[in-house]
Amino acid sequence: MIDSTGAQPVRIRFDQVSVDFPTDHGPMRVLDKVSFDIRQGEFVSIIGPSGCGKTTMMNIVGGFVQPTQGQVLLDGKPVSAPGPDRGVIFQEYGVFPWLTVRQNIEFGLKLASSRVGAQERAEITQRYMGLMGLTDFANHFPKHLSGGMRQRLAIARAYAVRPQFLLMDEPFGALDAQTRSAMQDLLLQVLEREGKTVMLITHSVEEAIYLSSRIVVVTARPARIRTIIDVPFGYPRAENVHEDPRFAELRAHIRELVMQEYEAQARQAVRMSD
Ligand SMILES: Nc1ncnc2c1ncn2[C@@H]1O[C@H](COP(=O)(O)OP(=O)(O)O)[C@@H](O)[C@H]1O
Ligand SMILES: [Mg+2]
Repeated sequence: MIDSTGAQPVRIRFDQVSVDFPTDHGPMRVLDKVSFDIRQGEFVSIIGPSGCGKTTMMNIVGGFVQPTQGQVLLDGKPVSAPGPDRGVIFQEYGVFPWLTVRQNIEFGLKLASSRVGAQERAEITQRYMGLMGLTDFANHFPKHLSGGMRQRLAIARAYAVRPQFLLMDEPFGALDAQTRSAMQDLLLQVLEREGKTVMLITHSVEEAIYLSSRIVVVTARPARIRTIIDVPFGYPRAENVHEDPRFAELRAHIRELVMQEYEAQARQAVRMSD
């Protein structure tokens, strides 16, 4: 991967994006004039209070939600629908309960848009089951897996079709600390090999710093850009950046910003109940 200062082409552009959702009390603004770019090979994390509009941002890139104003451009073209160029890992419901582990991973590979031959499909599926520690569960259905395993299955399914863009909504949130850290390292390895452009939503400041080239901090609802931070570490990234003094400084800085936004959100809630 390259650093964020490189003159790589812009792949994802948020251009003055606003979203209003209808409520019983009229429209509720969830995103307010959000503009930022994600360049080829960049890893951009979005961090901000829960309920502020992060998933909505990802849903627009995914083609599941249309902006009320402004637009999101993928390679210069407005997003109009979901597509196989974007691998999406949702916050929940990431797997099909009626398909086994193997069938879930194969699913995307069978779609016309990313179709590969039967043998290659079996090889790819085998490889990602192995990487995610799911080989012994190939013929199990999701309801017989732990939460962490279901999450790994969702990740395997998204990786297997080798999308150009990975859109991940708190993908590691349900995992225990050890699995989470293994999944982070695996993600870095996959990216090193396949050079994707990534948008990650996370609650974890540490995760954002460890993985990203840039971090977009957004405000309490409606989400606006609070600040965009360049992460001073290159790739390949090693575990020991956690011990770099700049890591601790950055963590303290971002935690403070996020805390301020949670406070702003709490004040809004008080105003609304007055
Ligand atoms: N399709 C929708 N219709 C109406 N309201 C929605 C819809 N999707 C999200 N919201 C509301 O928009 C706000 C932001 O949601 P979301 O983007 O999921 O936030 P986050 O991911 O930051 O927690 C929340 O108040 C949520 O209830
Ligand atoms: Mg969310």
